[in-house]
Amino acid sequence: MNSFIIRGDICYSADKNHLITKENSYLICENGVCAGVFDMIPDRYADLPVHDHSGMLVMPGMVDLHIHAPQYAYRGLGMDRELLDWLNTYAFPEESKYGDLVYADNAYTIFANAIRSSATTRLCVFGTLHRTATELLMDKLENIGVVSYVGKVNMDRNSPDTLREASAQTSLADTERFIKETQEKYKNTYPIITPRFIPSCTDELTKGLGMLSKQYHIPVQTHLSENPGEVAWVKELCPWAENYGEAYNRFGLFGKPEKAVMAHCVYSDEKEIARMKENGVFIAHCPASNTNVASGIAPVRKYLEADMNIGLGSDVAGGHSESMFTAMVDALQVSRLYWRLVDQGQKPLNVGEVFYMATKGGGAFFGKVGSFEEGYEFDAVVIDDSLLPHPQELTLQERLERSIYLAGDVKALKAKYCRGIEIMRN
Ligand code: GUN
Ligand code: FE
Repeated sequence: MNSFIIRGDICYSADKNHLITKENSYLICENGVCAGVFDMIPDRYADLPVHDHSGMLVMPGMVDLHIHAPQYAYRGLGMDRELLDWLNTYAFPEESKYGDLVYADNAYTIFANAIRSSATTRLCVFGTLHRTATELLMDKLENIGVVSYVGKVNMDRNSPDTLREASAQTSLADTERFIKETQEKYKNTYPIITPRFIPSCTDELTKGLGMLSKQYHIPVQTHLSENPGEVAWVKELCPWAENYGEAYNRFGLFGKPEKAVMAHCVYSDEKEIARMKENGVFIAHCPASNTNVASGIAPVRKYLEADMNIGLGSDVAGGHSESMFTAMVDALQVSRLYWRLVDQGQKPLNVGEVFYMATKGGGAFFGKVGSFEEGYEFDAVVIDDSLLPHPQELTLQERLERSIYLAGDVKALKAKYCRGIEIMRN
């Protein structure tokens, strides 16, 4: 059951400093789990069917640690404002529409189709504050075979009447119902506690969400230290917290007792970083969003050197594209600007590092995910880079590098597997 072999040119990360490339090799999937990469098919696997992707790149499925499904509708629009103004002008009016299930059904069908056609196999997704629409989104993600954490968003202050819950109590009651209805409903889709960010949540709400996370063992996703105006506002709203992260940590929403993913971390101070490291908080680095809404550049080199948990997020629609290939390129490019313009002591990222973040780094949020080492869940994508002809000899690592930059341009994605099941073929 779910056992087969993929033949192809195989690329994966052992760790952030070790990118492994094996030409014309065999990747074994045994009961949905990776059994290793071999030069020849071992005798004990001789009877398994072979999916022959010879000449193509085979790599782990991509992990998007941060994306807003309802914002997909206006991706590529409204990139002319800073975060807080951008939220009020574009995000909140669009998200207000998801009380209408006909609109939500249409929009989430478009979103799910886009994810199906992408190289993403795992994702952490924001819905809206609307429970029913968010459950509809979960049905659609389950149907396309990817593995996802999906959050009903919580917000009980500082937003328009059309996008604000009546009170902390109603928000908490609705969230508890959401958890009960979805926690065991799906094979591949799970609920996640999703306070939008501190400015949208009263202390009473944040505290109650911490209790729900602990009671039902549900992980947490939210935003952290994204933009200077936002960070200053959090200081005003929570004068008792020594930094933004502490406003989550006080209520058990910062990696302990349950795991947490924090998007952005552009302006985290040393104490906040130390707490993230201590608690094993995952950082979702979202370079496109940080550029589009003029937030800044996260000090990713520092996070990597400190061996923190870090992956990439598309952050659609702050980010304009759901492609994790685009996210990898954006991470490379902003790291060069950071080195040139901000701190020449912080070396730019390299291809192996961004590939690691898009696969094994983010994958760790889901368990043993994002690599082809033995025991990893079998998520893979196949890229036909013969669509990018070249006259010269290239190593496999060079072909991977070029594909990261260019594969999206030529729609080179040929097949996608998640948990040992082929979920897409082109
Ligand atoms: N902070 C609070 N909400 C949002 C959002 O929707 N997008 C981004 N990028 N940051 C946020
Ligand atoms: Fe976001």
